[in-house]
Amino acid sequence: MQIQLSGVSFIYEKKKKKKAATLAPTVLKQLNLTIHSGEMLAVAGKSGSGKSTFLQLLKGFLSPTTGSVLLDGVDPNTSKRPELFDQVGFIFQYPEHQLFATTVFDDIAFGLQSAKLPGEIVEQRVRKAMESVELDYEVFKDRSPFELSGGEKRRVAIAGVVVLEPKLLILDEPTAGLDLPSRTALFELLHHMNKNQGLTIIWVSHQLDEIVSHASRLLALQNGVFIADGSPEAALSDPVLLEAFGWEEPSALVVSRLLGQLGLSAGNTKLSPEEAAAIIAAALNQHEIIAK
Ligand SMILES: Nc1ncnc2c1ncn2[C@@H]1O[C@H](COP(=O)(O)OP(=O)(O)OP(=O)(O)O)[C@@H](O)[C@H]1O
Ligand SMILES: [Mg+2]
Repeated sequence: MQIQLSGVSFIYEKKKKKKAATLAPTVLKQLNLTIHSGEMLAVAGKSGSGKSTFLQLLKGFLSPTTGSVLLDGVDPNTSKRPELFDQVGFIFQYPEHQLFATTVFDDIAFGLQSAKLPGEIVEQRVRKAMESVELDYEVFKDRSPFELSGGEKRRVAIAGVVVLEPKLLILDEPTAGLDLPSRTALFELLHHMNKNQGLTIIWVSHQLDEIVSHASRLLALQNGVFIADGSPEAALSDPVLLEAFGWEEPSALVVSRLLGQLGLSAGNTKLSPEEAAAIIAAALNQHEIIAK
């Protein structure tokens, strides 16, 4: 799904009091942006910079105070086609708050109700969604979502959105509180859906290494304005930007920059520890051959 923002500003309107109405701050300021179909876009910025507000505009939970948000060229707000927002899957910052049913199965299947599908198709789709987040169907289907661990709850919430086969998937800090295997599994799933279904993915993250590893584009938000928009490698090795956010350059970029200065990185701008070790080993080998 392609998304276009034109002149989008947003203010949380305060409830009018009888007298002296205080001026509410502008949380998002004149945003112009195009997100192309199939992007894996990370959004980063300090707490309170407007990340969650921005995401909620894309799902229609909030409407812009000024400007427009187009989904595949159509403004669901003004075209009176709010059903377009149904193609947007949204995983909340605290997805466990999304759970409500008495069993994991019912929770995941809930969104399929309106489609009135035969029981066996519903079961197939729930099974597939659970497999995709690595929840064993037989083990979890009859359990109460409220008696699961935080990470398990999160995976149930993600399955409940994935099962609807959205065209845009939005995740607000999806990896907060997840252990490493769950984080790895989540990104495997996201890459899989991104590649195979052309799903556009937007997620908020405070983990710079995660952004370097997985994002095709980074938006850095500061006080409601995007102050960087582009390749994560370029943004996260820019000392001015790092300073502005109090961020440390991700290790994959530091390593490739240092090897690059020695003429060793072979043009690779982000290196895993294994890749860096292989480059150093090859250079040492070369050195030994020359020395002999
Ligand atoms: N419902 C609301 N009513 C009024 N102001 C709000 C509301 N929700 C958020 N805000 C304010 O809007 C600004 C942006 O909030 P937002 O939740 O979008 O930030 P964020 O970047 O997601 O932060 P975090 O990293 O802490 O989740 C903050 O100043 C916040 O206090
Ligand atoms: Mg937030």
